Amino acid sequence: MTNISKAGTFRLGDRDVHRLGYGAMQLAGPGVFGPPRDRDQAIAVLRAAVAAGVDHIDTSDFYGPHVTNQVIREALSPYPAALTIVTKLGAVRGDDGSWLPAQSPDDLKRGVEDNLRNLGLDAIDVANLRVMGDVHAPSEGSIAAQFGALADLQRQGIIRHLGISNATANQVREAQDIAPVVCVQNLYNVAHREDDALIDTLAEQGIAYVPFFPLGGFSPLQSTTLSDVAASIGATAMQTALAWLLRRSPNILLIPGTSSLTHLSENLAVAAIDLPEEAVVKLNGIAMATA
Ligand SMILES: NC(=O)c1ccc[n+]([C@@H]2O[C@H](COP(=O)([O-])OP(=O)(O)OC[C@H]3O[C@@H](n4cnc5c(N)ncnc54)[C@H](OP(=O)(O)O)[C@@H]3O)[C@@H](O)[C@H]2O)c1
Repeated sequence: MTNISKAGTFRLGDRDVHRLGYGAMQLAGPGVFGPPRDRDQAIAVLRAAVAAGVDHIDTSDFYGPHVTNQVIREALSPYPAALTIVTKLGAVRGDDGSWLPAQSPDDLKRGVEDNLRNLGLDAIDVANLRVMGDVHAPSEGSIAAQFGALADLQRQGIIRHLGISNATANQVREAQDIAPVVCVQNLYNVAHREDDALIDTLAEQGIAYVPFFPLGGFSPLQSTTLSDVAASIGATAMQTALAWLLRRSPNILLIPGTSSLTHLSENLAVAAIDLPEEAVVKLNGIAMATA
C-alpha cells in the first residue's frame, strides 16, 4: 500500500495524525443498522487501515448501534498508542433504525459510557457533539447546554478532547467560548462547499476540519468534470475527489468510509496524488455549477 505519510499530518487533540484517516460508518449493516454483512471483512478492513499507517478512525456508538464500536474493539484492541479514535455523541437509534436526538446531560453521559464499554476504553480521545437541530444539515440554535454537559464530562476525565459536528459557524464559536474545540465535522466535498469560509477560519486557528460524506456518502459524487479530470490524471473519480480535499486546505483530515479492502487501498493511495493546478481549477467549477 501507499505510504500515507506523503499526504502529511495535522494536529488533532494532542497528537499529529495522518491526514488520511478512516470512517467506520460503512462497517455496520444496511442503513447503518445491525451487524456488518461480512464481519470478517469488516475486521480485515480496520486492520489493513491501521497496518497502512491510519492513526485516525471516526466512529460512533450509534452506528449499528454498538456493533461498529464492538467490531473496532475486536479488530484493534489493544489499541496502538498512536491511534486516535473519534466518536460522536448526541443521538440514539430507534427500533426502526431512525436517528433520535439524545442531548440531555444524562443522555450524553450514557453515550460516553456506551462508547467506553463497546470500544474498551477508559477515556474517549475526541468526542464530537453531533448537533441534531436539523438532522441533515446545520441549523442555528444554542448548543451551550449540550456542549457545557460534554465539557463537564471532559473535566471528569472520561473525554480527553471535544469537537462538534453538523454545526454552524455561530455554534462553533459558542462551543469555543465553553471549552477548546479540536475539530469540526460537517458535510463537505467537491460539490458541497457551504463551509468554505469556516474551513479557512479554522485553518487560521490550527483546528482540524473533518468532512463527512467526502465521497458524497449515501449518494456517491457523480460529475462529468470529476470523471474527466480523473481520467486525465490516471485516477478514479473517488480518488480525485479525495485529492481535491487534501489540496483544499492543510487542516482537512480525511475519513472516507468503506467496507471494501480494494476501496480502502484506492483511498489511501490518494496520498501519492499531486493534483496539477489546471485540474484544481476545473474541479473548483463543480460546486460553482451546482450553486
Ligand atoms: N458527523 C456526521 O453526522 C457524519 C455523517 C455521516 C458520516 N460520518 C462519518 O464520515 C465518514 C465518511 O462518510 P461516509 O462513509 O458516510 O461517506 P463517504 O466516505 O462519502 O462515502 C462512502 C461510500 O463510498 C463508497 N466508497 C468508498 N471508497 C470508495 C472508492 N474508492 N471507490 C468507490 N466507492 C467508494 C463506499 O462503499 P464501499 O463500502 O463499497 O466502499 C460508500 O458507499 C463515515 O464513515 C463516518 O465515520 C459522520
